[in-house]
Amino acid sequence: MKQIPGIVLLFFFAATLLHAADFPTTTAGGDSINIPTAHSVLMLRVGDDGRVYEIHYGAPQKEIAKTNVLARETELYPPFGDGFILEPALEATHADGNTSADLIYVKHSTTAIDGNVSLTRIELRDPAYPFFVTLCFKSYVSEDVIEQWAEIRNGENGAVTLARFASAAPQFKAKEYWLTQFHGDYKTEATIAEDKLSPGIKILDSKIGVRADRFGFPSFILSLNAPADEESGEAIGGSLEWSGSFQLAFDLDFKNRLRALCGINPFASEYKLKPGETFTTPSMLWTWSDSGKGQVSRNFHNWARRYGIRDGDKPRPVLLNNWEATDMNFTEQLIVSLFDGAKKIGADTFLLDDGWFGNAHPRNKDNAGLGDWQANTNKLPHGVSFLASEANKRGINFGIWIEPEMVNPSSDLFEQHPDWAIQQPKRELIYGRNQLDLDLSNPKVEEFVWSVVSNTLSTPGVSYTKWDANRFVNQPGSTYLPPDEQSELLIKYNFALYNVMSNMAKTFPNVMAMACSGGGGRVDYGSMKYFDSFWPSDNTDPVSRIKIQWGFSHFFPAETIAAHVTQMGKRPLKFAIDVAMSGALGVDMDVRKLSPDNLQFLSNSIALYKSEIRDVVEQGDLYRLESPYDSPRAALDYVSADKSRAVLFVYQLQDGETKVVKLRGLDPQKKYLVQEVNWETPTAAHKRQTFYGDIDGATLMRDGFTPPAYKQFDSAVIELVGESEKIAAGK
Ligand code: GLA
Repeated sequence: MKQIPGIVLLFFFAATLLHAADFPTTTAGGDSINIPTAHSVLMLRVGDDGRVYEIHYGAPQKEIAKTNVLARETELYPPFGDGFILEPALEATHADGNTSADLIYVKHSTTAIDGNVSLTRIELRDPAYPFFVTLCFKSYVSEDVIEQWAEIRNGENGAVTLARFASAAPQFKAKEYWLTQFHGDYKTEATIAEDKLSPGIKILDSKIGVRADRFGFPSFILSLNAPADEESGEAIGGSLEWSGSFQLAFDLDFKNRLRALCGINPFASEYKLKPGETFTTPSMLWTWSDSGKGQVSRNFHNWARRYGIRDGDKPRPVLLNNWEATDMNFTEQLIVSLFDGAKKIGADTFLLDDGWFGNAHPRNKDNAGLGDWQANTNKLPHGVSFLASEANKRGINFGIWIEPEMVNPSSDLFEQHPDWAIQQPKRELIYGRNQLDLDLSNPKVEEFVWSVVSNTLSTPGVSYTKWDANRFVNQPGSTYLPPDEQSELLIKYNFALYNVMSNMAKTFPNVMAMACSGGGGRVDYGSMKYFDSFWPSDNTDPVSRIKIQWGFSHFFPAETIAAHVTQMGKRPLKFAIDVAMSGALGVDMDVRKLSPDNLQFLSNSIALYKSEIRDVVEQGDLYRLESPYDSPRAALDYVSADKSRAVLFVYQLQDGETKVVKLRGLDPQKKYLVQEVNWETPTAAHKRQTFYGDIDGATLMRDGFTPPAYKQFDSAVIELVGESEKIAAGK
């Protein structure tokens, strides 16, 4: 054997040592902390170096041995500055200027909140400073959801500056990673794109402060090893509970490990944590599935209905909204005359949109009035309560639009308080839709915004509201905050916004609320705690809405997705109705102008929706069957929890071959009556045709059947009713 010279060996060992020093490791000798749900587990381990490491998130698996080596790169919540060299979860500068942090395990506890939910708190501390981080995990067992956040506490004598403060930074280990994101713009919200991640950092973010996004909401699905489809493949869903600027950063490292750093966007957002202060990050929601994206969605839906939204178990009222019908051009008389239409079609609630307020600066166009929330006396001489009582007299509930965070420069409010608008000194004001954002970091402004909400919703007869936010921030400055807190503006704004929203939900439990933001610009589980539904898009053309609703359905249940029948795109009325019926159905048109046949058809459809469809759509399990992205037809079905009822929607987007649609989610053994409902016939009376009187779920799922939709804009709503339910319903 050839001799290796000593000098070469020396060099080799030195290089190995150097290498090891670059990438420190420890062993898994400390406590195991497992956070299980029904089908998944997050496994953590305290290393012999006292740091907490992530071992695994996914299907339950065996504990690792105490001798296992843990790489520093797998630290659960890595801080910057003391050995960790990748993208950190936390970056803090201590009061003495030290830019490093180290987080060492102190203790942890798990407490059962109830039979389904438990809370694990892991306390960490910097050994050199009284600086503490508690990592919190709420596990929702039967929904397979884990909610994670961090509490960062400063026990030092001076301020600690936080430059990064992720809510969560889990890691994954797979061969490949595929990221599905939901981006878009005004009228193209929730557009789906799926890409394979390559080494380096991919960031999904927003920097516009007062609403989550310019139409890309803070949620994603990560498929491991290969792109997951609806029913197979390993997929992880993530959704951030935050309505402000967000960052979802996916860091694929040199060992093919992926870390997802999720939280408030640290961009231009340094936060000074005062002595004694705790910064609580927004929560990040996680769910895992080994049976595809469909299960990820159903987990989120189940969680949302029980824990994440208002009134998760209540039916959403059918709204008649006047925005597309009248814009801001209306009179009291016109609105009252629309109530009769609402009654005729069977709507539950009339929703009066923008344009009802402002006197010195009347809100006749979008260039005036925001901030002056008194009814315009020309348009509404008897005020809002009169309208509400006229609606109530006809058996219709009354709702009203507000945009309380905003001000038009042409308003009494701006004349009195120009300093209340978000603005940068020495810069010319930039308007968006002729308006500015109010500076909610100022407690006086927060009080004002609350007074707008509370006065408007206290109006007798008001039982619904649509809360809009039509612009974002592009000059993030505050006349209220001191110079060294300017970078905190957008974070403080959102905390104050949540104060007002949560006050609304508490003070007005019987006033349902829809979140809107120039279409779907604020759709996230931070705000949805306080809302019943959201307005996904100002694009109500049913052809576009199929895709937009499809996108949002990955995270949000149908009862939250407001879907209104309008005339946008001039599509066949039945097609528009069938698309809206797959969400929280409403109408936005002047129904007085409909032909008698169309009016009859619309009111029959609403009656059908309320009596047979709504509960299955709003409370049922969603199965996305055929995607509008890759097929000339879109199809989806909803199945009730006990599988005794289901509704299938089929939308033909282009002329296409007739082919079978295979259902999912049914009980294979159960026999179903399968009928087309909402069938359009010239007489509008005969509205049901039976396909099968008695067919089992297994056949419908295996062989499917050919739905009656052949050419572009044909659509079908198919109802499935189990044998015993059929007899009970007398069908
Ligand atoms: C936004 C909303 C619309 C409507 C208008 C009113 O654009 O998305 O639905 O309420 O504001 O100005």
